[in-house]
Amino acid sequence: MSRLLIIDDDPDVRYSLERLFSGDGWEMAFAASGEEGIDAAVKRAPDAVLLDVRLGAGMDGLEVLRGLRREHPHLPVVMMTAHGTTQTAIEAMREGAFDYLVKPFDAERMREVIASALRASRAMRGKVSYPPLSRKEEHDESIVGKTRAMQEVYKRIGQVSGSDAPVMITGETGTGKELVARAIVQHGVRAKKPFLAINCAAIPEGLIESELFGHERGAFTGAVERRIGKFEQCRGGTIFLDEIGDMPLATQAKLLRVLQEGELTRIGGRETVRAEVRILAATHADLEKAVAEKRFRQDLYYRLNVVRIHLPPLRERLEDLPLLVEDFLARRAREEGRPLKTVSREAFKRLAAHAWPGNVRELQNVIERATVACPTEIISAGDLQFGAPRRSSRCASLAIISAGDLQFGAPSAADGSSRAEAGSALDAALNALFLEASRDPKLKLIAFAERALVTRALARCGGNQARAARLLGMTRATLRKRIERYGIQRSVQVI
Ligand SMILES: Nc1ncnc2c1ncn2[C@@H]1O[C@H](COP(=O)(O)OP(=O)(O)OP(=O)(O)O)[C@@H](O)[C@H]1O
Ligand SMILES: [Mg+2]
Repeated sequence: MSRLLIIDDDPDVRYSLERLFSGDGWEMAFAASGEEGIDAAVKRAPDAVLLDVRLGAGMDGLEVLRGLRREHPHLPVVMMTAHGTTQTAIEAMREGAFDYLVKPFDAERMREVIASALRASRAMRGKVSYPPLSRKEEHDESIVGKTRAMQEVYKRIGQVSGSDAPVMITGETGTGKELVARAIVQHGVRAKKPFLAINCAAIPEGLIESELFGHERGAFTGAVERRIGKFEQCRGGTIFLDEIGDMPLATQAKLLRVLQEGELTRIGGRETVRAEVRILAATHADLEKAVAEKRFRQDLYYRLNVVRIHLPPLRERLEDLPLLVEDFLARRAREEGRPLKTVSREAFKRLAAHAWPGNVRELQNVIERATVACPTEIISAGDLQFGAPRRSSRCASLAIISAGDLQFGAPSAADGSSRAEAGSALDAALNALFLEASRDPKLKLIAFAERALVTRALARCGGNQARAARLLGMTRATLRKRIERYGIQRSVQVI
């Protein structure tokens, strides 16, 4: 069960959050002051923290955040703020806060942010080991493989862990690129510093620059607040840019500046910000081809490609198949507390004959499905089902981008039972909107809200217009008109 720690001096807030999360299977812990919260973070080892910016007497939210970051660098902390303290919450992002939420809370958005914080903490918590480590060492995941190509990978991980050089990790889908990135970080000098993974392919083109570099208030229509980008948020740590081949050219130019000069400016800002971040990048695409076709900057390619780690496809290292199968079976047995299963000779032959387009991820899925399907301890050929592998990292990154700085969200009211809850969330959202309008008399409320809805729906649907139109209840033609009207793809947007 995942543990959530709530630090807030207001008993009403603690009570309503307890009610909100109690049905979601969380184990909750509460603290009424910063000092108590810091203590509880040690004693209760939470997976995520919700922290109020203003805490009455004693330590304030920012101080608590700094303390938590120092002692638990991979523990995601989400700040809670009232309208008067939003600036502090935004600044807290520079201190490494995971995100912030503005009161009155939107239940759906709060769940979304917490779920995404939890995924982020899980991604770094599991210790990844690889053969050069002693077998006795505690680990949750290992990079498995003994072939020459894999030995080369281990050697490279060892070499680059100790340095700060950028690393390019290449290989087909499911070959373990993310696993290698995590191993590099965990065995390196920045192991105790923040780590953020960003999937460039999952963020709509118009949003990525703001997501990475941040923006100033008023940088474009809809930029109602300053936004701190991931590079600032991850100061001192490591950023993993997954699917870097999908990064738009304009963003590539900014990234190059970070690599060359170690600095950046937020969109619409003049202030230069130091970017003390190590960059790891990964792609399954052919970057050389992208360079030749001018879709990827050559200078950036050379900068990133100083050290390259290439992961071989599974079909080229079938000698590792027995080891991998054994590892996945052992992991299942451990997780479920059941006896270890084995694979029959026939089943193994079928595994060895498969082409594995989804590589190790596909193998892992096949083995997991087979252990569920097979009632005995020996998995036979008939228990094996080959199918399309699922990509999990995509959802994680979508969740990261939806953690934007728009303070309201459209509640989902898909079924009657959730309508009441959706109604109250809608109320909260409308209140936030009216508040915004009262602060800015020039704001055209309907257009502002519509634009935000369209932007957010597009982000939710990974930029897929057909799905976004369905979600919004409009035709694709209308959606296209709105995109055009609000310049949504062409300028940088906030969600
Ligand atoms: N050598 C390996 N040993 C053990 N598990 C592995 C290995 N390689 C990959 N895996 C497992 O396979 C799954 C996919 O790995 P990962 O997410 O690192 O792939 P990827 O190369 O980033 O794929 P994509 O390009 O689709 O993002 C993960 O669950 C990972 O733990
Ligand atoms: Mg990946």
